[in-house]
Amino acid sequence: VAPFVVSAPGKIILFGEHAVVYGKTAIAGSVDMRAYALVTPRKDGKTRLFLPDINVDVYFDSTQLARLSPSSLSHPCEIETQLTGIVAAEGPGRTAILTFAYMYGSLFERGNMGGFTICVRSLLPVGSGLGSSAAFGVVLSTALLQLTGHLKQMGASAEDRKLINHWAYRGEQVAHGTPSGIDNAVATYGGFLAYTRGSESVSLHSTRALRVLITNTQVPKSTKALVASVRTLRERHPEVVDTILDSIHSISTAAGSLFQSHKPCCSELQDIVRLNHGLLATLGVSHPSLERIREITEARGMASKLTGAGGGGCALTLIPIDVSGAAVDRVAQELGEVGFRCYQTVVGGAG
Ligand code: MEV
Repeated sequence: VAPFVVSAPGKIILFGEHAVVYGKTAIAGSVDMRAYALVTPRKDGKTRLFLPDINVDVYFDSTQLARLSPSSLSHPCEIETQLTGIVAAEGPGRTAILTFAYMYGSLFERGNMGGFTICVRSLLPVGSGLGSSAAFGVVLSTALLQLTGHLKQMGASAEDRKLINHWAYRGEQVAHGTPSGIDNAVATYGGFLAYTRGSESVSLHSTRALRVLITNTQVPKSTKALVASVRTLRERHPEVVDTILDSIHSISTAAGSLFQSHKPCCSELQDIVRLNHGLLATLGVSHPSLERIREITEARGMASKLTGAGGGGCALTLIPIDVSGAAVDRVAQELGEVGFRCYQTVVGGAG
């Protein structure tokens, strides 16, 4: 095998976070920040996982990896029990090693791949809700499927994509337990997707990408705790909260129609960005830092909302077509002075 490179984008949830947990629709799109994997064959038969951004550099010998039997596990996250003594790393490095071992072990059961080095670099900030683990999962699954000869067109065909997405989802199960599947779907297919739990995601064939400013508040958040807080509120006030969740679903439906009518960045979209944020704030998942971003961007006529779990994390700001790059730079500078970190991105690019 000759050396090869594969890549996959991160994602941003545009509409519908939290409501998606209750079977409502969410809309997400790919961001133009990607993870890249370089695969080089090795002569010594070893397998090296090299992730310089998160300080992982592990060598596995083929007997260690061949001993894994992921198909005997009742859930992918139990791979940890088959790796005792191998995994010394903590945090994201540990999760990445476990994800790799699970995928390697599963695909090894379906075809030998010989020794190789896989080096993954990513422009996606870890743990910020931009789908860095899903992008990692997609490059891993693409690389390993390519090595085992399972891909017919190196990921280009619909059949290949389905297989890549399937294994990337398994990887997400190692990392997150019971993920919704939206992150790996966006990283695999790119563009804009409408996602409803338990159904296949639907691609929204929009012709125009969106310019979006992503602002990381750098305030740490716990997705688990935020999802639990909405659950508690819903248990106490089922009718009130269900009405809010239904309204969020209507927002996603409206956004889907706007995208499909090729009018992604119009004033209606700005309206629904504001409405969606207001509803999320009502559910209690905003944060003073996110409200500050809204104030700063609204003062320049740009609508923002939290994206992902909220409680800190990231906000997105739609950049209307008539706003110049210089004006965006000024807003980004102002947000930077408050201590936030901004990324100018284009949403809706290739998977
Ligand atoms: C977090 O990125 C999105 C949530 O809707 C949780 C989930 O969908 O699993 C808050």
